[in-house]
Amino acid sequence: MPFDPTLLAQARHVVVFTGAGVSAESGIATFRDKLTGLWARFDPAQLASAEGFRADPALVWGWYQMRRAGIAKAEPNAGHLAIAALAAQVPKLTLVTQNVDDLHERAGSRAVLHLHGRLNAFRCLDCARPADEPVALPEDAVHGRRIEPPRCACCAGPLRPGVVWFGEMLPEAVLEQAFAAARQCDVLLSVGTSGLVQPAASIPRMALAAGATVVHVNPQPVPCEHPRAFMLPGKAGEVLPQLLRQAFA
Ligand code: OAD
Repeated sequence: MPFDPTLLAQARHVVVFTGAGVSAESGIATFRDKLTGLWARFDPAQLASAEGFRADPALVWGWYQMRRAGIAKAEPNAGHLAIAALAAQVPKLTLVTQNVDDLHERAGSRAVLHLHGRLNAFRCLDCARPADEPVALPEDAVHGRRIEPPRCACCAGPLRPGVVWFGEMLPEAVLEQAFAAARQCDVLLSVGTSGLVQPAASIPRMALAAGATVVHVNPQPVPCEHPRAFMLPGKAGEVLPQLLRQAFA
């Protein structure tokens, strides 16, 4: 049975749970897509761990500045815009993202729960103090080059990007809010995620277990064995605007 869009129109609380796929149509690489995914081309142990950063801070800092520069040049796509528009159509919407970019905010979404941190937030690797001043983005960072990280104003330790690296805990308060929303919502839209990284990946299952309807938006098939789990195959920038048109016509 296909998903009935009136369930979305009647929902009191909608959770939208996004992954890298929602930003793909803005030209931002996902992590696990074959050939184009970041982890097909780069080593996560070297670039997404505190050990890798300590081993070669300039390599890792330069890589994150390259990603930051790519995102600064990108624009929110029709998927981000549809999610922001959906918030105005339902009594309550909680947006939970695994993404470290700011494209949801730039599309107009507010109070976004960033489970894996944000690329534009920086703190000291040694004393964890947030950066006092905005961190300038060198013009040529987009090409990817070694850049020495700025130093902490307090202890002179290297600044690190405010993203969650492998082996690190997710921000506890953010995770709790996301779990609470998953348990309380009527409909959860899971958009553009492979669902492979825990604990974020448990959010759609948590919503299902609490009685919600879960809709996966993805060009790749997602297993939907549960009677309240549905698949809307396709790109977020195409499927989400169409879903809104059907639900709120
Ligand atoms: P992945 O790269 O694992 O998965 C991206 C998903 O998006 C795949 O299922 C694609 O099929 C789908 N996709 C691609 N293009 C799409 C489009 N236009 N519309 C909708 N879906 C599309 O990315 P995530 O699931 O977000 O963690 O990865 C989870 C975490 O793994 C990331 O947050 C990151 C990474 O290691 C940290 O940085 C901690």
